[in-house]
Amino acid sequence: MAYRVLLATALVALFAGLAKTAPDRVCPVDVVQDASSPLPLTDVCIPEGYTDIPMDYFDDFSWREFVAMVWPAANGKRGVADMSKGFAAPGPRVFETFKSLWEVFHNDGSAPRAFSQYEPAGVNACNVPTGFGDVVLASKSGIDDIGQAGVGELVGPLVAQNGKYVRYQTLYNQIAYDFIVKNKFYLRSNLPAVPSPRPELPVIQFPMGSAAIKAAWLDMDGFSDAQKARVYTRLAVVKDPETGKCSKISVGLMGLHIVVKTPSRPQWIWSSFEQVDAIPPKQFGGTGQFFFSDGDRRKPMPAENPLALVPLAKQPVKPFNLSRDIMMPIHPKTELMSLVYQRLLHKSPWEFYQIATTQWPRLEGNQAAPVPATQGGEMTTTFPGAGATSAFANVTLETFDQSRPQLGCMSCHNQARMTVDFMWSVLDHAYPAKIAPAKSAVAH
Ligand code: HEC
Repeated sequence: MAYRVLLATALVALFAGLAKTAPDRVCPVDVVQDASSPLPLTDVCIPEGYTDIPMDYFDDFSWREFVAMVWPAANGKRGVADMSKGFAAPGPRVFETFKSLWEVFHNDGSAPRAFSQYEPAGVNACNVPTGFGDVVLASKSGIDDIGQAGVGELVGPLVAQNGKYVRYQTLYNQIAYDFIVKNKFYLRSNLPAVPSPRPELPVIQFPMGSAAIKAAWLDMDGFSDAQKARVYTRLAVVKDPETGKCSKISVGLMGLHIVVKTPSRPQWIWSSFEQVDAIPPKQFGGTGQFFFSDGDRRKPMPAENPLALVPLAKQPVKPFNLSRDIMMPIHPKTELMSLVYQRLLHKSPWEFYQIATTQWPRLEGNQAAPVPATQGGEMTTTFPGAGATSAFANVTLETFDQSRPQLGCMSCHNQARMTVDFMWSVLDHAYPAKIAPAKSAVAH
């Protein structure tokens, strides 16, 4: 008996000692794939001395973020996961309760409310009151949430097989939001100028743990029940760009960008997800139908977007086929990681999403070492790099940028690095906003 107590005491002491001497985090060589918790990793976990390309660690980080973002939100609490529920439970998701772009950047430059509150009806382009979990997909111009992102400007829209335009929505978590509001960066006059000579660090640096989301939503009208069953759908107030009329309709999540600023990667970690039935090939057990392709191989994807943003053609628009550039497929290792998480998320629509790409700033040698903030997001120092042979674009968000590595996530956002720490939306939407359609998106 005494011996047992002694042993137990010794063990407790031993573990207490271990806990004290061990570094903050011990990162296992084999990633622990886990979809059971809405608590994301605070940083990518790469074992000390790992010198290979750390794809699995970053893709696992992406999935953990995804699970955290799509977890049901705690009722009435913006940005907080409901720990008492499972991932499959109904209700607004964590990311949907973040502060959306229109809540942050008001048309008159007025200050937004606290993170926990919703902005008054007059602030959104539909003039509707909003409360917990509500989503409004609308912009005053009618095209700001329809044009895809170019280099700080809007390019052409994306049309699905049902003739409807994809809607883009940007959101910020509380850390990023509070930082913008505290510093009044929603006003252009408060964005510091970049001094000359150029400093080593961006003039604005978001705090660690900042996260920004960009979601691609599609009107579910006209798709079969079998198709819809494989998509996360919800109700949203959506503005018709033609009539300006707003209505509450069912929209489905087609794509999701998640970017997170971490202590080891102050250039943010860039994760991007797609719904698996967006384009061929047909998934095992799938419907054989696609949201952005009629499946006919004789009708390839056009090289340039055939649609103009200005003027915007009236819906329903004649759709065209999308495909993934065969030279830039999703990396096989990334696909394997997605297969594991898809199984973990079984029996929910979340099992029908996949990583298109994770991008991160690269350094040579020990991959566990943090990358200094002085390093930029140039194509040459980010994965998959200048000689990319795997995807770095999302088919529903950067549809026509799939073959140009200089237009990877980080490389494009790098042009906003010095001023706003990669956050293009802040540079574009700080009052007075300067977002405008690119020349190429205007019909002539
Ligand atoms: C060709 C340039 C370009 C590429 C490539 C690009 N983006 Fe963006 N992105 C933008 C612009 C411009 C905006 C802001 C649009 C607006 O005005 O609201 C933006 C907005 C975002 C936002 C909202 C927060 C912010 O930065 O303002 C996220 C998140 C995001 N992009 C993630 C990604 C990811 C992930 C990829 C790669 C899969 C990617 N982007 C590729 C140009 C780009």
